Amino acid sequence: MGTLAIETSCDETSVAFIRDKRVERQWIASQIAIHRPYHGVVPELASRAHLDNLPVLMQRMFKSIRRADVERIAVTQGPGLVGALLVGVAYAKGLALNLKVPLVPVNHIEAHLYSPFIGAPIPREFLGLVVSGSHSSLYHVKGRAAARLCRTRDDAAGEAYDKVAKLFGLPYPGGPEIDRLAPGGDPKAVPLPFPKMSDGSMDFSFSGIKSRISFMVHEGFPVRRRGRLTPDALNLLASFQETVVKILVSRLDHFHRIHPVRHVSISGGVAANRRLRERVLEWSAGREVTAHFPSSEHITDNAGMIGYLAEARHKKSVHPGRVDAVPNLEVGE
Ligand code: KG4
Ligand code: ZN
Repeated sequence: MGTLAIETSCDETSVAFIRDKRVERQWIASQIAIHRPYHGVVPELASRAHLDNLPVLMQRMFKSIRRADVERIAVTQGPGLVGALLVGVAYAKGLALNLKVPLVPVNHIEAHLYSPFIGAPIPREFLGLVVSGSHSSLYHVKGRAAARLCRTRDDAAGEAYDKVAKLFGLPYPGGPEIDRLAPGGDPKAVPLPFPKMSDGSMDFSFSGIKSRISFMVHEGFPVRRRGRLTPDALNLLASFQETVVKILVSRLDHFHRIHPVRHVSISGGVAANRRLRERVLEWSAGREVTAHFPSSEHITDNAGMIGYLAEARHKKSVHPGRVDAVPNLEVGE
């Protein structure tokens, strides 16, 4: 017996089967090809693709598990795109009623937060950085309580990657492209603004850097020559990445001085970034801190982390009729 999990909050449709906190099966139908021409997720197209993909993935799932094996269903309730969430929530409600099993609503951000601990013990206390295409927040987790320490005031880190990549004519999603190209440039070549809040807050902000790069490109910065990125463009991409990583690590460092914990979790799509991993590992090594990253199949949006959180944190089930999609759901609500 185990948990059947469904994730449809953004542009990946995913289903997974979790038994004893182990993700036994997981499938993800990626929509990257659908959204690529628009350089970002188009909400209406995402909802329609979930409608097409979810029954197909579920059919595949029920070829490999028995209906009687499903003890509960876990579904992403929010945050996310309202139409996308609704597809998963409506499907999960129907299935839970049909199979006569409890339905467990799960917070997507909290699932990212715990995703590095799938298959490992969860530390009692840790700092958790969630950096994705839609969120950039740092949490202090102690026992079952998660307190948000800071968040982004404007763009999410992944969103900044995607927007800057677009300025350089790189395909969506931009994060993996810049990650791949940045080592070919000098990260110190172009000084970029390091955000400082006038009210002294330690919140993240990435839109100033993106605007500076947008201004440079529109003022004639030599991005391409004979169709190829110029050495200057590679320097600018490397400098952009270095600045984003520096901002993320600076906040981690700031809040670690206040909460000197032994563990940090780095999750969400941007946690795949090689430079971020390198800098976090350097930072943690000097402080007797263990940095935890998700395994590759649980970095970008996936149902495994949803079912895992439901089991690992004994999330409460709710009568299927009472579960709604909540696009602005906060951790701890
Ligand atoms: O967690 P995720 O799949 O979806 C959201 O919940 O938003 O994250 C997707 C984001 C995209 O913005 C993508 O560009 C970024 O994660 N991303 C990366 C890398 N891989 C994915 N950003 C930087 N470096 C990467 N290697
Ligand atoms: Zn996500």
